[in-house]
Amino acid sequence: MKIDGRDMRSIWLESDGTSVGIVDQTLLPHRFGTARLKTLADAARAIRSMQVRGAPLIGATAAYGTWLALREDASDENLERACASLLGTRPTAVNLRWALDETLAAVRNRPRGERAEAALRRAGEIAEEDVAINKAIGRHGVKLIEEVAARKKGACVNVLTHCNAGWLATVDWGTATAPIYMAHDKGVAVHVFADETRPRNQGASLTAWELGKHGVPHTVIPDNTGGHLMQHGMVDMVIVGTDRVTAQGDVCNKIGTYLKALAAHDNNVPFYVALPSPTIDFTLNDGLSEIPIEQRAADEVATVTGKTKDGRIETVQIVPDGSAVANYGFDVTPARLITGLITERGVLKAERTALAKAFPERAGNSLQSGTKVAS
Ligand code: MRU
Repeated sequence: MKIDGRDMRSIWLESDGTSVGIVDQTLLPHRFGTARLKTLADAARAIRSMQVRGAPLIGATAAYGTWLALREDASDENLERACASLLGTRPTAVNLRWALDETLAAVRNRPRGERAEAALRRAGEIAEEDVAINKAIGRHGVKLIEEVAARKKGACVNVLTHCNAGWLATVDWGTATAPIYMAHDKGVAVHVFADETRPRNQGASLTAWELGKHGVPHTVIPDNTGGHLMQHGMVDMVIVGTDRVTAQGDVCNKIGTYLKALAAHDNNVPFYVALPSPTIDFTLNDGLSEIPIEQRAADEVATVTGKTKDGRIETVQIVPDGSAVANYGFDVTPARLITGLITERGVLKAERTALAKAFPERAGNSLQSGTKVAS
């Protein structure tokens, strides 16, 4: 997507051919900076610290991280160590495990001398596939926006989104944002309500930033506002991303998504989830009981970081000393609350048969859940 007219991706192979460049998302929105990943430890740290985040980008970073590990030591032991270390960075987004399985499959039966090259090739393919998938999601999703625009006789279509499922969360285009960017680029009047998304404020700091840089009209709203807007007919549709979708269509996404789905259901507002197929976990059925929910540091809830009037970035504490806080990173929206799943193969019902029919190659062969290197 564009930053002030300049094309940019969230991750790339550096021209030195030995390292990986990323947009450092912990600096946004007040500063823009990139970082260079040179080792496995750099890649693992980038995911853990959320310099890179968002399910598809976490997967792509892990694939490149495997390459960085194999450049140093292409033994079975190091491959296994690298996969285990990357897999342990964040538990909820299944794209991480998918990307590691893909990279493992590409390298494990090769001689050591060829492994790094094969991992790099697969990582590059995963990144390119992500871009192609998101474009396809955009092409399917934009029709939904255009239908509303036609019904409203060209008046602005208001889309509410949660967290950041934009290009920063993927390699390019984003999932939830791909239909929005395509609508905007086609001249359809579209406006986005971006939930700020406490505690880390990915909506306020990332979604608002990237929409603004691309010129898409948007308004940041506190997380509690969506229900009120929906009651007053101010939201035409909700589109969110996801970190894991089960075989029966339950959707795990950033904490607070479920409440938006409830409000949408109560107000007859269509609630769509945009997802690339690597986010489907056909090994799981019931999202509520089976998806591991990441719990993150208390600091994210107890403090807020922002820019002071004189331009300094500061973090301040907003809860009393000694108060307990809880920081669940994600929640699960049951399939029954979802109007449709916008995938690269079309808009599907959130149900087992629709998912299995659209992705038979994935549904039939449940993903490997381990990362053991075949001997
Ligand atoms: O904790 P994060 O910032 O990695 O969570 C991101 C989200 O919840 C996104 O909405 C999700 O990964 C979908 S990514 C296209």
